[in-house]
Amino acid sequence: MDVLQAIKDRRSIRRLKSDSVNEEDLNMVLEAGRWAPSWKNSQCCKFVVVRDYETKEKLAHTAGSGNPAFDASQNGPLTIVICGEKGKAGCEGGKPVTNKGDWYMFDTGLATQNMMLVAHALGLGSVPSDVRDQTCLAHARPGS
Ligand SMILES: Cc1cc2nc3c(=O)[nH]c(=O)nc-3n(C[C@H](O)[C@H](O)[C@H](O)COP(=O)(O)O)c2cc1C
Repeated sequence: MDVLQAIKDRRSIRRLKSDSVNEEDLNMVLEAGRWAPSWKNSQCCKFVVVRDYETKEKLAHTAGSGNPAFDASQNGPLTIVICGEKGKAGCEGGKPVTNKGDWYMFDTGLATQNMMLVAHALGLGSVPSDVRDQTCLAHARPGS
């Protein structure tokens, strides 16, 4: 798929089928995130794949049941939580070196767009959604 066309065609999809995403497709989406550029190649992004319904539900609730992406977050087949490790992007020795502070939101945004475009090219819908409290991930079962 032509990149510009994929950029133009991608839309936030908020009504997702619950069909599972196959591993090959998921790995291509994650790979697209890993290959995203990062500040001084500092690679602050970490991706957590959540399939477990209880954790997806908790994550969805952190953005609120009134969030337009609530149903997709709770009932879609999986959520990829995009995390940014602080003290890397835009930083040296853990401290920001520009007057813009930590750049992790910039780098996670680049990775997110890469992933959504590859998902779209694979025929998978996606929607970015806020996670307003990530602490519910602390109890997620690895591999679930
Ligand atoms: C940082 C960011 C956070 C977003 N958070 C939400 C959200 O919490 N819920 C939601 O339904 N859409 C969310 N969106 C999706 C935007 O509403 C959507 O991208 C915008 O309306 C343009 O529509 P499109 O993605 O279909 O082009 C978010 C988008 C971005 C970039």
